[in-house]
Amino acid sequence: MNSCGWSPNVQPGVRLMAEGEQKAAREKFWRKANLHYSKPHYRLEKSAVIINRLARGRDCTLLDVGCGPAALRYLLTPNIEYHGIDIAIQKPAPDLRQIDLIESPIEFGGQQFDLVVAQGFFEYIEDAQEQKLAEIQAILGPGGRFLVSYVNFGHRKPDIPAPYSNVQPMGAFRRSLERYFTLERSFATSHNWRHNEPGRRFLRASQLHLNVSIPVISSVLAVEYFFICSGRGSGARRRRFLAVAPR
Ligand SMILES: C[S@@+](CC[C@H](N)C(=O)[O-])C[C@H]1O[C@@H](n2cnc3c(N)ncnc32)[C@H](O)[C@@H]1O
Repeated sequence: MNSCGWSPNVQPGVRLMAEGEQKAAREKFWRKANLHYSKPHYRLEKSAVIINRLARGRDCTLLDVGCGPAALRYLLTPNIEYHGIDIAIQKPAPDLRQIDLIESPIEFGGQQFDLVVAQGFFEYIEDAQEQKLAEIQAILGPGGRFLVSYVNFGHRKPDIPAPYSNVQPMGAFRRSLERYFTLERSFATSHNWRHNEPGRRFLRASQLHLNVSIPVISSVLAVEYFFICSGRGSGARRRRFLAVAPR
């Protein structure tokens, strides 16, 4: 159990909480915990490079699922119209909605989006992974792209702190994505002997634009992975997006 008193119900030895209690405990936990994501960190900066490139040359709408304090918004180019949803919104704004996505669907006023992003989110959603992927599939507009990160739990020294409630091998997460999307690319967010984002300037700078997956090495040294997905069979608009996808 963490310092805020919340552990997901799926952990053994923890008293099963009533649904309402769980929701309140989750929100209380994240209200404090997601403040750690207020400033841009390495993965967020890397995702912004990828997203800005995907959106280059056109106006786009974007939904950031599990947006936390919405730090991503400030790294995006002005042609991207940002929206965010999270269980604990720190500063209310018209483009942000507070929703517990374990209880309620991923949606934003019935809109569809050109880009949907979910970073550092799927590790915390208990047994709702398939449901959430189906919901993202439904709100991804024609030719849209879905960028998702997932922690490499196969790292040589996996770090699995208490709030993670949806832990699986990378292959299982990939197969789950492929049930709903066409997987265009996947690569390590970074490689590090330790299971955390690179801290040293040189390591950060050298990996920021390096979108690779190295056989054998990545499976044990990749900190997390990014997956770039598209909806199935989305025709000409999809081809246009692919033309600007990072290589
Ligand atoms: C590890 S933080 C990542 C924040 C941000 N996406 C980033 O990468 O910097 C996980 C985010 O998911 C949100 N989250 C966790 N469980 C959630 C839920 N059930 N519904 C909505 N948001 C949730 C948390 O509030 C938090 O902002």
